[in-house]
Order: sequence, then structure tokens, then C-alpha cells
Amino acid sequence: MLASLGYCSRREARDWVRAGRVTISGVPAQDSAQKALPAAVRVDGEPLDHPAGLLLLLHKPLGLVCSHDGREGPGVYSLLPDRWQRRNPIVTSVGRLDKETSGLLLLTDQSPLVHRLTSPKHKVPKVYRATVDRALPGELVALFASGTLLLDGEREPCAPAELRILAPREAQLTLTEGKYHQVRRMFAAACGATVLSLHRERLGDLTLGGLAPGKWRELPLDYFGR
Ligand code: URA
Repeated sequence: MLASLGYCSRREARDWVRAGRVTISGVPAQDSAQKALPAAVRVDGEPLDHPAGLLLLLHKPLGLVCSHDGREGPGVYSLLPDRWQRRNPIVTSVGRLDKETSGLLLLTDQSPLVHRLTSPKHKVPKVYRATVDRALPGELVALFASGTLLLDGEREPCAPAELRILAPREAQLTLTEGKYHQVRRMFAAACGATVLSLHRERLGDLTLGGLAPGKWRELPLDYFGR
């Protein structure tokens, strides 16, 4: 239990038990194979750190990747406490934002939730704010809404998406799916525009509120139901 929650290695857990640092219902644990309910366990007198799981809403800053592969650059996970970075199952992002995209990103160790929220079946709306390198033609609104826009290398056109043009080179786009680099590819395919900045403002009914870049807040594990 301690090793999966990122406290220490399995070997160290045995040492901690021997040293009397671990109690079960107030009584020092006898050996590391002893069964216990997580709520009854304490380490150095402290209750366990989120034994049931983690669900976090992160304001992803620019420059960090959602991958766990260090070769792709520093990951968003480096923003979390070390212990959470060592948990097993690992804490992972729900879908991905590009290295150069900022905004709302969910992180969790609950893999059924990742599958549920990323499945196209559930159509969770994701709202992006984009600035582009040229004036956006008004016809883009109907094209994005039509469900006919086909991206390079895809078999299926993009699902209908809602575009609001906010300024000549700025728009809000709501997607219900998450193809690779979808926002950037949609603007490129539809009018040749390059996205210069991209920020995710909303996911379902969640927004960042006043959360600063690089900061996260916890959500209840049952936030999206069970
Ligand atoms: N679409 C993109 O192109 N990039 C993102 O990070 C998210 C959506």
C-alpha cells in the first residue's frame, strides 16, 4: 500500500514497519504483509495521502508536455508533489494538450475515468480560445458547424464544432472530440491559418476560475459520477 501510494519502495516499507513508523488502528503494524484498510493506516502518525485516488484540475502552463516520456520534454507531472509522481497506478492526463497549449487539464490515477472522459461517445464539450495569423472568414462558422471538415490523414470528418469569432484573428472553438492537434489542424485545413496561441478555457462545466498557470486544485473523485 505504501509503495503504491508513492511513499517508498516495497523494501523501505518493510523497514518502516520494523521501525514502528506504521500503525494500523493505532497499533504498530506487525509485518508488511499484514492486511489493513487504508483508512486505518498511519505513517509517522499521519493518515495516508489520498489512498482512494486523485482527481486534479491543473492550469497547464506553456512549455510542459502531457507525455510521461522525458525525451519529449519536461512533463506536467513535475508540478505535482514527488510522492504523487511515484504512485502506481500513475497519475496521467485525461487527454492531452500540446506543449504549446495552456489551460484546463485534468490529471488522475483513475483509468476508467480517463476512458470515459476521452471517449467520443460521451461528447464532453471542450472550449478553446485561439489566436491565429490572419483574419478569420465568417464562413468558417458554418463550415465548422457542418460536420464535413476533413483533416489530412483522417477518414472521418470533424464532428460539428461551434466557432465564435471574437476579433478578426481571435476565436472561441467548442469541440466534442479530441483528434491529434485538432484545433490547429482545423484552422489550417479550413482557411490556411496558423494558430499562434491556444488555451483551453473549459471542459464540460469546469473552468479554471482564478487558478494560476502551474497550479492545480483537487476535485472529488466522484465529480463525474461513478
Ligand atoms: N487542439 C490542438 O491543436 N492542440 C491542443 O493542445 C488541443 C486541441
